[in-house]
Amino acid sequence: MSTTNPEIDSANRRSFIGLLGAIFIGLIGLVMGAAGSIYAVFPAFFSSKSKKDGLWYSLKSLDQIPNGISKHNFTINKQTGWANSQTEQVVWVVKENQSLNVFSAVCPHQGCLVNQQANQFVCLCHMSKWSPDGTKTDGPTPRNLDRLDHRVTNSNLEVNYQNFKIGVSEKIPLT
Ligand code: FES
Repeated sequence: MSTTNPEIDSANRRSFIGLLGAIFIGLIGLVMGAAGSIYAVFPAFFSSKSKKDGLWYSLKSLDQIPNGISKHNFTINKQTGWANSQTEQVVWVVKENQSLNVFSAVCPHQGCLVNQQANQFVCLCHMSKWSPDGTKTDGPTPRNLDRLDHRVTNSNLEVNYQNFKIGVSEKIPLT
């Protein structure tokens, strides 16, 4: 004949329920931790993809680019983590007969906006000047204008937009 102690049974039940509760809470923590990690890491995959694919920006149809110097604005969409931002950028296009060059409008000296003045480029901040082919002709700029890669896709002029380190003589791309 076996005898049971109600106090021991009750204690066993309590510890079993406590164990179940601990396992349940642990599982919830595990699931939430995994979800948090995926949430934090997932945009990195997207942003690296969009960065890689988003370097080329369409300016306009090649037919609409006039001969000589012309200014073009376009919007860059940037995704940092889950945040999305848009910035307006400016480039200069110089089209002469069959040749075409695209230059960044960021002054290599201290980053002001480069303008056009007659048949040359000028930065009004400290009066640096460049010829239409981007060669520096005057002022404190440490280098020529930053030439950007371009291509024509389906008759559209596209530019591979990049920023470069300012204040140095070499053209060093910034990531
Ligand atoms: S920032 Fe352009 S010349 Fe100084």
